[in-house]
Amino acid sequence: MNKLFASLPTTVFETMSQLAREHEAINLGQGFPDDPGPDDVRQAAAVAVYEGWNQYPPMPGLPELRQAIAAHYARFQQVELDWQQEVLVTSGATEALAASLLALIEPGDEVVLFQPMYDAYLPLVQRAGGVPRFVTLEPPHWRFGAEQLERAFTPRTRVVLLNTPLNPAGAIVAREDLELLADFVERHDATVICDEVWEHITFDGEEHCSLLSIPRLRERTVKIGSAGKIFSLTGWKVGLVAAAPPLLTVVARAHQYLTFTTPPNLQVAVAYGLGKEESFFTGQRERLQAQRDRFAKGLEQLGLKVLPCRATYFLNVDIAPLGLSDDVAFCAQLVREAGVAAIPVSAFYAEEKVTTAVRFCFAKADEVLDGALERLADFVRREGL
Ligand SMILES: Cc1ncc(COP(=O)(O)O)c(C=O)c1O
Repeated sequence: MNKLFASLPTTVFETMSQLAREHEAINLGQGFPDDPGPDDVRQAAAVAVYEGWNQYPPMPGLPELRQAIAAHYARFQQVELDWQQEVLVTSGATEALAASLLALIEPGDEVVLFQPMYDAYLPLVQRAGGVPRFVTLEPPHWRFGAEQLERAFTPRTRVVLLNTPLNPAGAIVAREDLELLADFVERHDATVICDEVWEHITFDGEEHCSLLSIPRLRERTVKIGSAGKIFSLTGWKVGLVAAAPPLLTVVARAHQYLTFTTPPNLQVAVAYGLGKEESFFTGQRERLQAQRDRFAKGLEQLGLKVLPCRATYFLNVDIAPLGLSDDVAFCAQLVREAGVAAIPVSAFYAEEKVTTAVRFCFAKADEVLDGALERLADFVRREGL
């Protein structure tokens, strides 16, 4: 057996969802919206299943989807991509991450990781033979500085894996911080894999800045996206990679021996969706922002300290003002006694864990959020928090 996978525990998302089922809790742990997703995009998929092609599509993805991806990023992020040489369709961002890490890491290479980090990052880096070097981010601003980068980068650094906007923090890496990172990347002749799956879920008028739009990173960046996040259809698992030809070619080689292709009918629907008018994307943000505000206000009225949330589906509560410092124990108590499931943010760290933040997914119907707030209100009252 492979020691790495044999020794991994069940993920915290699975554990919390299981506890949520056992205790009939409202599940604000796992990050998926509870609305069915845009009608016309689902319709396009249904038509494509029925009338379309259901056999193996081309390995890099359907031409119409690769063209739509290039057009989409030219329209929204001012990034010009050659759809034939610089775009690859994958089975979710997770497969894109796996293919990129397998393609870009040689055993013993060092990989700079920013924690908190999405749970797949570390095992995938290690399985590819990479040696992790962590930069630790902390609430409320989750920013990194030059000193931290100085400690993390070494002559053996080959890859940097960054996530912006950042899950679970709900933060967006500032342009000046990206420029600082670019200095280190250039100095160490490294490649950045940038997980930008939350690119469209930003609030209060803030815009995502793709690493591909920073001229000196254009040839050094492997951008990863996910239609699951763009259209709130997380189960579709249609992802993408965009990178300069020398990088994309080797990522595509790794991809051809992972899933090889992605369901063509879903690709057709995503191609249609990416071409939708701008109001669709802004409308989606506005709806999520209203849900964020509704939930944040409710939490604040209970006397809880809500951390800033500028992007993603997630809000974090700082439990330190409650005199608490064990987010895992708090989440376990919450699911059992309050009937609300959340995720302890320490689960996103490998070391030097932040243990005072608890993540709630707010991409839920108003009545679900209100129901959770009522349960939390009872809990807060009973516990005298
Ligand atoms: C930062 C980040 N990367 C990757 C993923 C996975 O995306 P996909 O479902 O497209 O594989 C997620 C899902 O929550 C995520 O938050």
